[in-house]
Amino acid sequence: MRVLSVTSEMYPLIKTGGLADVTGSLPKALANCAIQTTTMLPGYPSVLAKLPDLLPLIRFEDLLGQRATLFRAEHEGLDLIILDCPALYDRDGGPYINGAGEDHHDNWLRFAVLSRAAAEVANGALPGWQPDLVHTHDWQSALTSVYMREAGCDVPVVLTIHNLAFQGQYGADRLPALGLPQHLFNTNCLEYFGDISYLKGGLQTSDMITTVSPTYAREILTSRFGMGLDGVLNQRVMSLRGIVNGIDMDIWNPSTDPFLPRNFDSTSLKRKRENRVPLLERFGLEQGDGPVFSAITRLTWQKGMDMFAEAADEVLYQGGRIIVFGQGDHEIERILRRTADRFPGRMAVHTGYDEPTAHLIQGGSDAIVQPSRFEPCGLTQLYALRYGCVPVVSRTGGLSETIIDANDAAISARVATGFQFHPVNTDGLRLALRRALDTYGDTRNWARLQHQGMKTHFSWERSAEKYAAIYNNLLARRQETTD
Ligand code: ADP
Ligand code: GLC
Repeated sequence: MRVLSVTSEMYPLIKTGGLADVTGSLPKALANCAIQTTTMLPGYPSVLAKLPDLLPLIRFEDLLGQRATLFRAEHEGLDLIILDCPALYDRDGGPYINGAGEDHHDNWLRFAVLSRAAAEVANGALPGWQPDLVHTHDWQSALTSVYMREAGCDVPVVLTIHNLAFQGQYGADRLPALGLPQHLFNTNCLEYFGDISYLKGGLQTSDMITTVSPTYAREILTSRFGMGLDGVLNQRVMSLRGIVNGIDMDIWNPSTDPFLPRNFDSTSLKRKRENRVPLLERFGLEQGDGPVFSAITRLTWQKGMDMFAEAADEVLYQGGRIIVFGQGDHEIERILRRTADRFPGRMAVHTGYDEPTAHLIQGGSDAIVQPSRFEPCGLTQLYALRYGCVPVVSRTGGLSETIIDANDAAISARVATGFQFHPVNTDGLRLALRRALDTYGDTRNWARLQHQGMKTHFSWERSAEKYAAIYNNLLARRQETTD
């Protein structure tokens, strides 16, 4: 089966978060289920720089008013179609924001063009290659199925929601520039409180909707987590599934990780300690004993780092160290820095985005703190488990089903892997940190948690099979209707 995956980011070419990890690692796992994935993504400068061998496929003279070329490429076993459109993608900054941290002014067009190009490919624009199925991810590629259906293309589409907080909402006056007819501006397709919602359009026109954990799939049916789309999701509930993300076991492997000064595995956990000195050094913290509690995260309301800033003294007064590495909201950064200033040499807040540093933090920390207000899946806690870090997480979304709380029953059954808290507020986090610190003082129990976490298996195998089953069902259904 040939699948066209359409995405705005993909590791190792371009990454701002977990979406890239998923779109970069799922194709390898699907290959074991006889599914060949070709991924389409924009030709941002950093993507083009990593791909010296581009094979031109087709040129569009007028893709929503833009000139663009599709190129074929391969990178580290990934099969790619690159959408080169310099007017839209050749610029400074990241995939979504400019150097000053503001959204690119024309994101509405940049991702509509990506979706439009994908729809053309789905509909047979490439000589000799057409996908059997299209897989879109989040709002950035959600319009693909809208364009496909409008063009009469009935190739099945699966849309995965990685994060419902981002929906691609723009003024209705954009409709003509999007090349979409007025009749699609209705509540059963694009219309969303008077605006256009790309994600809603995708939800209404794809065959199946998945999200990245079963718990989040249930949560988004409620008004609390549904972000205004719970009504649409409830209407489509029979086509909604939750499939937990896996992790790339090669990239996130402490025994071979090239970014760790000292490699280790569950039989040589003592060596993990040797990553601590370089880690503390890297973040300018005092050396010494005491646990290192870290966070590697986007700084947004979702991730709850403001709560960590308020509860951090719990760790610091107990002789611990704190590292926060991330970027995003300047106000959250300021709140964190205010706490760090009170504890010089003990708490470091570094802004930036750097893959090797993220690996080093996992390699040298004792605990990873993730007090998310909502979390569709979360990958950082899964990497933490693999690296012998104990996750301290809120009980929400994917966090609630990937971490087993160290309550008495779980400890005596030897299945606990971390600490969960609920309700999700500063006091809840404070208590969870306290429990974690108490357990850290009990070397044997802490080591048990680490070992149990390292044994947990979050490879893609099982989840890829679930995606494959969805793909196969859709294809069988299409076959039945065309027979
Ligand atoms: P989300 O996608 O919501 O940001 P996930 O936990 O699914 O959350 O994925 C986050 C990914 O981004 C992980 O791979 C994590 O290591 C990475 N990451 C987050 N912040 C940084 C950072 N400052 N530098 C490098 N990697 C980061
Ligand atoms: C989103 C979510 C995160 C999830 C990731 C990959 O960014 O916030 O929870 O792990 O997508 O699916």
